[in-house]
Amino acid sequence: MTAPIERNAVVAVIGAGAMGTGIAQIAATAGHPVRLFDVKPGAAAAAIAGLHATLSRLADKGKLSADAAASAAQRVHLAETISELDDAALVVEAVVERLDVKRTLFAELESVVGPGCILASNTSSISITAIAAGLQQPQRVLGMHFFNPAPLMALVEVVSGLATDAALAQAVYDLALAWGKSPVHTKSTPGFIVNRVARPYYAEGLRLLHEGAADAATIDAVMREAGGFRMGPFELMDLIGNDVNLAVTRSVFEAFYNDPRFTPSLIQQELVNGGFLGRKSGRGFYSYAVDATAPAPQTEAAAALPASISLWAGSACAAGIATRLRAAGVIFESHAAAHADGRLLDAGGTAVYLSDGRSATWRASDSGDRATVVLDLALDYAKAKRVALCAADQASAAEFGAAVSVFQAAGFAVSRFDDVPGMAVMRTVAMLANEAADAVNQGVCSAAAADLAMQKGVNYPRGPLGWADAIGLPHVLAVLDHLAQAYGEDRYRASPLIRRKVWAGGRFDA
Ligand code: NAI
Repeated sequence: MTAPIERNAVVAVIGAGAMGTGIAQIAATAGHPVRLFDVKPGAAAAAIAGLHATLSRLADKGKLSADAAASAAQRVHLAETISELDDAALVVEAVVERLDVKRTLFAELESVVGPGCILASNTSSISITAIAAGLQQPQRVLGMHFFNPAPLMALVEVVSGLATDAALAQAVYDLALAWGKSPVHTKSTPGFIVNRVARPYYAEGLRLLHEGAADAATIDAVMREAGGFRMGPFELMDLIGNDVNLAVTRSVFEAFYNDPRFTPSLIQQELVNGGFLGRKSGRGFYSYAVDATAPAPQTEAAAALPASISLWAGSACAAGIATRLRAAGVIFESHAAAHADGRLLDAGGTAVYLSDGRSATWRASDSGDRATVVLDLALDYAKAKRVALCAADQASAAEFGAAVSVFQAAGFAVSRFDDVPGMAVMRTVAMLANEAADAVNQGVCSAAAADLAMQKGVNYPRGPLGWADAIGLPHVLAVLDHLAQAYGEDRYRASPLIRRKVWAGGRFDA
């Protein structure tokens, strides 16, 4: 049994940049004496001055009592040299993202700190096993991966390398909990949980843009207003910086020996080539010039309702649409049982299906019914502001319009995508769940940890595995298998764990 890290134990933070300063603030606010060290002269002192200002701002806003802010500020001490960190119970390193620098630093720390001191790295991409290699006590090295801005983001990935002592990882997990954070355990594998599982959020958006499914503003609007994500992939990449986002994708891609699942996008590479880095350079997917106006998402013009509408219940999707149609006073025929071919509704002869990964054209070819329209996934059809639809190439404009009109009558804005398999939200959520399932299958983390990490680390509206359970794992597997068939690419191979759960009739219950 390892002793817990006491509230009055000294926490040392190395690197007084954005992350180190935030981590120092968290530890000091939680009651720890904090020692902050930075190799650059004046950097730690400037960070401490900034921290004092932040704490008093928090007190002014009533987020902290004046007493709590003042005593937290007093607990942060400047360390002039590494040797002043000798009384630390925990060191959190947040210096430049370079293995050689981190290794040298950890070796130096070993000669300074006591035998019980835990050495943590805030690295987001370097192997904890590699940082610990060659140290005298590699078992006390682990990752404590905060998210930016650290005081606001709840997630902490507690990363165990090959040599990490599980009891120490648990002590750090408990400490993060005591600091009010949401910690998760993970193994030291490329991208840990969040930076790996989030890749499809960007990759599928980029893929859709590359294939001309819709423009960036439309895909972003659908991901936000149907998917419930806080930001669409393109506005998010512009915020992160296309150079930074591409670098993370590249590092995960290379670390997985060029697994096609993580293939970087030519579109993003070209933006980086051109210096279109996003907000910071004034232009990325969007322009941020002072006179620029944000492009509006494509939205279908109002269409006339057909004479007859039928809706087949039996799914959350159909229930949400039915409730909205009723509230809008639209008369429709409601069937209690599911339709034999799975259609959700019939709009004057146009069959509308929830995307199962087949394009509408493919579905129409399979069924022989040319009036086929496919609906993208929404987080909650009872509340979504927008939905996306695809029409089969075989369908007429009037047949598509009939489907559009029903969703408009139910209060949705409707965006039309070119007829791509899996559409946007369905394809992205299936791929996020697939990646999370693979991480679970490979022992990187538990299903619950994967879901918590994505909700707390990148603010997803729902954990991908819980979301996949809600959609139905057989449906998610069908989406993946259809995408694999449509593209003939290994990128869309289904995780063996999803397939296994479908065979067993199981769920993730994350
Ligand atoms: P930063 O560039 O803002 O700060 C790094 C600081 O470390 C600088 O003040 C620098 O002078 C100092 N430093 C460099 N080498 C040093 C050494 N040998 N000893 C002591 N201090 C040294 O960097 P940032 O963004 O705070 O990142 C720090 C670490 O946190 C990196 O490992 C990064 O990958 C990781 N990280 C960054 C996130 C972010 O969004 N910025 C999120 C999560 C992790």
